[in-house]
Amino acid sequence: MENTTGMLRDDALKGKTIIITGGGTGLGKSMGTYFLQLGANLVITSRKLDVLKQTAAEMEAGTGGRVLAVACDVRKYDEVENVLKLAIEAFGRVDILVNNAAGNFISPTERLSANAFSSIIDIVLKGSVHCSLALGKYWIAEKIPGTILNIITTYAFTGSAYVVPSACAKGGVLAMTRSLAAEWGRHGIRTNAIAPGPFPTKGAWDRLLPGEMMDKFGFKNRVPLKRMGEHQELANLAAFLVSGFSGYINGEVITIDGGEWLQGAGQFNALEMVPAEMWDSIEQATRKA
Ligand code: HXC
Ligand code: NAP
Repeated sequence: MENTTGMLRDDALKGKTIIITGGGTGLGKSMGTYFLQLGANLVITSRKLDVLKQTAAEMEAGTGGRVLAVACDVRKYDEVENVLKLAIEAFGRVDILVNNAAGNFISPTERLSANAFSSIIDIVLKGSVHCSLALGKYWIAEKIPGTILNIITTYAFTGSAYVVPSACAKGGVLAMTRSLAAEWGRHGIRTNAIAPGPFPTKGAWDRLLPGEMMDKFGFKNRVPLKRMGEHQELANLAAFLVSGFSGYINGEVITIDGGEWLQGAGQFNALEMVPAEMWDSIEQATRKA
């Protein structure tokens, strides 16, 4: 199937060094693996060094590429600066940043403590700010035409109940994407975003659809295409957006969700529940009117 195989030519990211936050698990791991297949050097970072090291070993064995694993809590700016320093020591320079790390869980907002709200904002919004700031300062000083790719969500633009801290934070990252695209474009720095719909990962599913929630509120039926995303589909889009092949795309957010958010938005979309055999009588009624 085309959507489970790589899309770009083998050398599309050759010689590029890419930092992916949250690169040890889930979508970060899938994107990173594909970037390595396309010739990139990879730096993966998150809080859990044991997970990162295991992923790095798997990635190197599977692709023959080079992976540096560095522990870093993106909420701490000095730790982000340390990742950049170690990446430059290892690979000579850094070309691309993927802000992928996130924290999230479902909860009625009134049940949240102030600290719970802040911890999501700190990981998602401030973490993305910290990484973009550190890389942006470096790229501008060194005259490197870097690229930032932010992984947001579709509710960054629609909002969503029960994940309000995440919606606020992702909305902020979307604003940062467009703002930096305008401000740093003159340095040759491009900033774009991907808004994924449902792509199964353990990290997201354990926190957003725990236990029986999966059966009752699973995503699949909300998507017009009636399926969830394949990780390779996201990796293909991410690789294109960080590669030179998308060199004139700046400040854009690309949704990859099988039409999910529009399904929720269109006033009459729920009519898909109407059984086919009912449409004759409905037609008669509407013609009469
Ligand atoms: C209510 C909760 C809570 C919960 C934590 N808290 N979990 N409150 N319901 N389920 C509260 C804690 O009590 C604490 O507040 C505060 O939040 C911080 O919690 P800690 O456990 O101390 O924080 P920390 O160790 O930093 O962990 C952060 C985390 C955790 C976000 C809570 O889940 C995590 O590490 N997540 C990383 C991975 C992740 O979330 N992946 C999913 C991304 S999915 P108090 O007041 O008690 O101190 C995603 C996709 C969206 O974004 C779209 C999908 C379709
Ligand atoms: P995931 O596997 O849980 O990924 C989140 C990553 O962030 C983990 O590797 C985690 O590693 C890291 N992280 C969390 N807090 C951190 C911190 N303070 N500092 C550094 N790293 C931290 O979930 P995922 O589904 O792959 O999500 C990846 C991205 O896709 C997120 O931005 C998410 O919002 C977005 N997204 C996912 C979906 C989906 O359907 N899966 C849909 C829309 C958007 P540690 O625990 O080791 O720190």
